[in-house]
Amino acid sequence: MPTSAANEHFELRAQTLLQGVKDSGQWKHLQTIESAMDPEITLEGHGRVLCFCSNNYLGLANEPRVVQAGHEGLDRHGGGTASVRFICGTFAAHHELEQRIASFFGFESSYTFVSCWTATEALFPTLCTPADAIISDELNHACIIDAIRLAAGMHKGLRKTVYRHSDMDHLRERLAALRADTDFDGVIWVVTDGVFSMEGDIAKLVDMRALCDEFGAMLVVDDSHGHGVMGQTGRGTHEHCGLRSDQVDVLTGTLGKALGGGAGGFVAGSKTAIDLLVQRARPTLFSNALPTTVAASAEMAIRILQEEPERVERLRANVERARSGIRDAGFEVLESPTAICPIIVGDTARAIRLSERLLEKGVFVIGFGYPVVPEGEARLRVQISAAHTDEHIDRLVEALRELKAEEDA
Ligand SMILES: Cc1ncc(COP(=O)(O)O)c(C=O)c1O
Repeated sequence: MPTSAANEHFELRAQTLLQGVKDSGQWKHLQTIESAMDPEITLEGHGRVLCFCSNNYLGLANEPRVVQAGHEGLDRHGGGTASVRFICGTFAAHHELEQRIASFFGFESSYTFVSCWTATEALFPTLCTPADAIISDELNHACIIDAIRLAAGMHKGLRKTVYRHSDMDHLRERLAALRADTDFDGVIWVVTDGVFSMEGDIAKLVDMRALCDEFGAMLVVDDSHGHGVMGQTGRGTHEHCGLRSDQVDVLTGTLGKALGGGAGGFVAGSKTAIDLLVQRARPTLFSNALPTTVAASAEMAIRILQEEPERVERLRANVERARSGIRDAGFEVLESPTAICPIIVGDTARAIRLSERLLEKGVFVIGFGYPVVPEGEARLRVQISAAHTDEHIDRLVEALRELKAEEDA
């Protein structure tokens, strides 16, 4: 129990804040899964339910070869790296994974971190200087926003601007303003999510590439929700848009979604950019490496994606079935080719209430509200996997139909 005056001060302040979260119906209950991550899971207190809220887009999280690779990683390298990478924390499993990432995505080199969040926080502070400018889509993922703040804090003078979501005229304005400024002679970094995680829409990468070429800017794409999902072979949003990998200057992504679902993130790019991260990024120098078991599993997951592109095809068919079913059930779903199907419901409390009701019907879908999305734009975010069967999707649609009837009654 807290005893000091400072502790009491903190307790009172924090409890008031938490009470406000509860009173406004925004309290998030962390559900506990007692089984493996699959389309059907065992949820503590709820039994077997259908999972429609994981990022297990290709069904690789519990794929036997991915699990086996993790066991082999454990046997080969033991339980811990016990060091940061540059001292003695770099293992063969890291190199194998990084080579796999670089060759699959078509980049000279790649480097992994414990998460994409960390990878992004390594990227901007390390590659940028105070002379540079970063231009970011207003709906970019929180890790990009925070990494830019970090870079700006570390490099006084670094310019940071935001353009309206996917508004290419606004991006052009931002670029033109920088180039018109005779004091500016740094590198311009334009950064975007490939697939926007809350809207499920995709970046206009062809237009962005053209603008970057016109104004001499670097294009950075975080395709955490696009890898394994977008494009004929799952290489991501640039493939979907018909861009070559060399038309993206720096690519970041997570290993915690389609690519095995374990954890970890990466940066892929030129050898120069990656060398700089290895030599200078603070997470490289001061934080432990990705666990080798996870590295081995992720390497296998990408190998399976390469060998079985039909998983991407199956995911696409499932997404189409789910989207049309959700609409038939009477809900508006934001249009896009991605595996994220957001059903906008307005206020946070309603989103949470609807998701609780769905869970009672054996369908696990999370309601997202403030502060994850702006106030008034709460949503149920349905996520589809290649591992869902037609029957799973039909059960989701049926539950939504019942919910709609209940609301309309
Ligand atoms: C676009 C995007 N980038 C980065 C991340 C963070 O990935 P990680 O969990 O590997 O830190 C996410 C996860 O939600 C994401 O959606």
